[in-house]
Amino acid sequence: MTINHPANLKHDKLRAWVEEMAALCQPDSVHWCDGSQKEYDELCAQMVQSGTFIKLDEKKRPNSFLAFSDPSDVARVEDRTYICSVDKNDAGPTNNWMDPAEMHGIMDKLFDGCMRGRTMYVIPFSMGPLGSHIAQIGVEITDSPYVVVNMRIMTRMGSAVIDVLGEDGDFVPAMHTVGAPLEPGQQDVPWPCNPTVKYIVHFPEERSIWSYGSGYGGNALLGKKCLALRIASVMARDEGWLAEHMLILGVEDPQGAKSYVAAAFPSACGKTNFAMLIPPASFEGWKVTTVGDDIAWIKLGQDGRLHAINPEAGYFGVAPGTSEKTNPNAMLACSRDTIFTNVALTPDGDVWWEGMTKTPPAQAIDWQRKEWTPDSGRKAAHPNARFTAPASNNPAIDPAWEDPAGVPIAAFIFGGRRSNTVPLIMQATNWVHGVYIAATMGSETTAAAFGQMGVVRRDPFAMLPFAGYHMADYFDHWLDFGRTIPNPPRIFSVNWFRTDKDGHFAWPGFGENMRVLKWIVERAHDRGAAVESPIGWMPRYEDLDWTGLDFSREQFNEIMSVDRDQWKQEILNHEELFIRLYDQLPREMLFQKELLLSSLWRSPEHWDPGV
Ligand code: GTP
Ligand code: SPV
Ligand code: MN
Repeated sequence: MTINHPANLKHDKLRAWVEEMAALCQPDSVHWCDGSQKEYDELCAQMVQSGTFIKLDEKKRPNSFLAFSDPSDVARVEDRTYICSVDKNDAGPTNNWMDPAEMHGIMDKLFDGCMRGRTMYVIPFSMGPLGSHIAQIGVEITDSPYVVVNMRIMTRMGSAVIDVLGEDGDFVPAMHTVGAPLEPGQQDVPWPCNPTVKYIVHFPEERSIWSYGSGYGGNALLGKKCLALRIASVMARDEGWLAEHMLILGVEDPQGAKSYVAAAFPSACGKTNFAMLIPPASFEGWKVTTVGDDIAWIKLGQDGRLHAINPEAGYFGVAPGTSEKTNPNAMLACSRDTIFTNVALTPDGDVWWEGMTKTPPAQAIDWQRKEWTPDSGRKAAHPNARFTAPASNNPAIDPAWEDPAGVPIAAFIFGGRRSNTVPLIMQATNWVHGVYIAATMGSETTAAAFGQMGVVRRDPFAMLPFAGYHMADYFDHWLDFGRTIPNPPRIFSVNWFRTDKDGHFAWPGFGENMRVLKWIVERAHDRGAAVESPIGWMPRYEDLDWTGLDFSREQFNEIMSVDRDQWKQEILNHEELFIRLYDQLPREMLFQKELLLSSLWRSPEHWDPGV
């Protein structure tokens, strides 16, 4: 097969790799993606033809499409995700591991002829602004046109990346196939994937990625979790920076003072919502702007402060629950130029999902392509249904979101989904305590995470599925990192998800989270009042701004309360994680645990900031 390489390709190694992969995968043809609008439009039209895409109504949802996935291919597959370091111990006990040579053997077999009957697309992409010293370049090879168009929204993709690579620039090779070769004459399906064999594989030493069998999200858009988190976390450890599962937002106060914070919440726990927060009406003059909603790369700047960039160019956001009420900026971001996956199709050619409007449409086509009505007893959209929207569509985008130098970070925030135990807000007493809080973070599982729903699982730094190396070494890296900074950012813990006796959320959340964010920003600049609780610094009722919200002192004290018995159980759970990591666990973690225990032991059984 002759491959039509782009005229500006000067990189012999890249050319040779593409040729080698074409010979291995045996596609019908090879298409180098230039990243143009024309190419995007043609691929979308082709997918409308093939049934992968449904074009949405041009007036209601300009330039937008809907895809329904195979019902077996709806989320990341953590049990099929591997970190194949040379030494098993480098992957640590929280990652699946296989010997790299053995895994390469499996991959070589699986990829042999895997693209028969299909086109092989070569996607050069940059994570981070093109040519920025913080950016990393990857080249994804895929047989999925759905992946190509999503990558065009999520990354800086195309011809210009080849220029940046020059003759010998570094790139992360990322192989992807849906794992569904077509025999001559075989009819394709709308969402090809391999229903039984899936592998999401990382070779951290080689810095390469091999993904087989899935076309969905983080399994297939390899710049995101695979490169920007798993491979990048290894680079970050080796080179002294941080690659984190964090949103980045800017807060401007009425005097025009601007602060940036970064926050790590597990998948589907509110990063997109928080990153696009609209302050309540009573917060006149306050403004929140988005730098990123999922991933942050953080480096120490020459000014001694930490600077963060968002390596992505779009949002791959959870659709269910997103509405004019909960996230108007996300609604605007996906009002056009958007690819929807696994939401419902309405009769007027628009989309719908649970929580989008109070009244559901009278009828729809659900994500499983079936006729749906509000009383059909099924969800119209899959709980992990997503929109892929360009960041530039977000009206709250921060003016510095593409600044190659990044934005200075004043605070780190960690939060999970906890119906009890963890208070609405607290501040770590120092960096090491903050690392302990992040390391022992837990969350009740959601549709984006593998496993039983609603069970608390430890999700250190919201990175459990994304750390490319031993989790205990990752804690150590954070401890070390803090020591290199003259005045490290303050660290906070939040929990928007405490419930009351009836199981309802006890905190209004969403825009009202601004009240907590304001206190965080004040504390980050060593202003704002707090009291010492058994588990960290906390605001009293009078330390938060309540104007415009009817939320009583009693209600506040309840969601801030520290219950000794619940915390004893909590610490036993911390211990479970520590035992798994024990031989490499930084000793600071054990001492912090002892400190926490002894301070709880001496405090009232039921502590709240009103005592
Ligand atoms: P990934 O993209 O999977 O990494 O997740 P994310 O953290 O960006 O998730 P996202 O913001 O899309 O989270 C969506 C879920 O969080 C929905 O179920 C929302 O209703 C819920 N959520 C977000 N903010 C709040 C809040 O303040 N209170 C409550 N109760 N729920 C919230
Ligand atoms: C997550 O699960 O944390 C996501 C979605 O951001 S995915 O890209 O599919 O991993
Ligand atoms: Mn995520």
